[in-house]
Amino acid sequence: MNELLTVEDYNKKIKRVLITEEQITEAIRKAGKEISDSYDGRPILLVSILKGAFVFMADLCRAVTVPCEIGFMCAKCYYNGTVSTGNVTITMDLEQDISKYHVIIVEDIIDTGRTLKDIVELLKSRNPISLKVVTLLDKPARRKVEFTPDTALFTIPDYFVIGYGLDCGEYYRNLPYIAEYDEAGE
Ligand code: IMP
Ligand code: MG
Repeated sequence: MNELLTVEDYNKKIKRVLITEEQITEAIRKAGKEISDSYDGRPILLVSILKGAFVFMADLCRAVTVPCEIGFMCAKCYYNGTVSTGNVTITMDLEQDISKYHVIIVEDIIDTGRTLKDIVELLKSRNPISLKVVTLLDKPARRKVEFTPDTALFTIPDYFVIGYGLDCGEYYRNLPYIAEYDEAGE
């Protein structure tokens, strides 16, 4: 359960729009085309990391024009406010045997890199035909472990961002754009 916010306080924390709906739509169209162009007749499995990537997954899978399946994993990287504590736990796993698939991990944001480093290691150990990582956002300045995605739709500075699946305290996931979060919010 979350701390309840008044609508006024909720709106005050949305500092400014960083990436518009239109920019996101255009970048996803391109990413979907790249995935479709790489199709070699073998099964593609898009794997979304919940909860943050659910919106990106919904749009990206509809930009893919070749046969593909979707799967979900839930990973929690525990946050203390807006600061990562560095503990990653898989709380829901895939049901597919991924050795039969080209796997594409669909992530919302790469921050310290810990979540994806762990997930990539885990999925690699299950021997997929191939494994790629597509992230909507990348914050390379914040990396604590070495990790580079195959595709990042947008590279952003060290801001805490909300919207389009990304939350702060479980709020703001439903904003249709990416915004900078205003900690002070006055
Ligand atoms: P990492 O393990 O530090 O790379 O963090 C990855 C996860 O932390 C993401 O999947 C997000 O859920 C969350 N996260 C990192 N940065 C932000 C942010 O700016 N806003 C909201 N969530 C974030
Ligand atoms: Mg989150």
